[in-house]
Amino acid sequence: MISLRDVSKRFGSLRVIESVSLDVERGEVLCLIGSSGSGKSTLLQCINGLEAIDGGTIEVDGISVHDKRTDLNRLRQKLGIVFQQYNMFPHLTALENVALALKVVKRMGRAEAEAAALRQLAYVGLESKKDTFPGRLSGGQQQRVAIARALAMEPHYMLLDEVTSALDPELVAEVLQSLRKLRTDGMTMLIVTHEMRFAREIADRVAFFDRGRLAEVGPPSQIFDAPRDERTAKFVGMTAR
Ligand SMILES: Nc1ncnc2c1ncn2[C@@H]1O[C@H](COP(=O)(O)OP(=O)(O)O)[C@@H](O)[C@H]1O
Ligand SMILES: [Mg+2]
Repeated sequence: MISLRDVSKRFGSLRVIESVSLDVERGEVLCLIGSSGSGKSTLLQCINGLEAIDGGTIEVDGISVHDKRTDLNRLRQKLGIVFQQYNMFPHLTALENVALALKVVKRMGRAEAEAAALRQLAYVGLESKKDTFPGRLSGGQQQRVAIARALAMEPHYMLLDEVTSALDPELVAEVLQSLRKLRTDGMTMLIVTHEMRFAREIADRVAFFDRGRLAEVGPPSQIFDAPRDERTAKFVGMTAR
């Protein structure tokens, strides 16, 4: 599991995360919601070891992320990350984009890497686009390639940061469909999202972040229908659709 204890993070004098404790159990889908600037992306970066923390501990499967002795490259293979920006290599096809890390990081040969990449493209419904370059793919398709790319590394966890925020509304559904499939297949996910209806549907638990603090964590029925914290009530009332 992913386990955060009293995690704090500052950028200079700005306190971005304050004493956050949170567990994500294996097989669980946890959605993180909250206003822009509340620290959600920073939290994911801290879990991945891309940002240092100023206090507390973060463990992934019992391994301390910020311990100097930890092999971060190895640890990161457990964590698939997908961002709002898909960051495809424009000169590589969909298949080559997915296969690249398999060749470089997992040191697979070309045939093995491409076979594995093709399986992941099929998983997100894009087998037929394997030879297409990113510029010819819609935003939704590129984001599904990015999901396939993360899955190809066979992570234990998926961290998803507003993966639909850059998409036109009609393209959001296809990306969410890939995440539903992952959930059905038991993937553990930490999903930062503004899609409240989706969070309600897919999450086992929802965590509401308010200015770097975890204001409330609970099942979707609590967070959206009977919030216990008035900050949560205000936020979900504001974003209700
Ligand atoms: N690298 C950075 N340097 C300085 N401040 C940062 C940096 N990254 C994020 N911040 C600040 O930290 C706060 C939280 O940002 P972020 O984690 O991106 O929030 P969210 O993802 O919830 O919108 C914001 O005030 C943001 O401006
Ligand atoms: Mg963010």
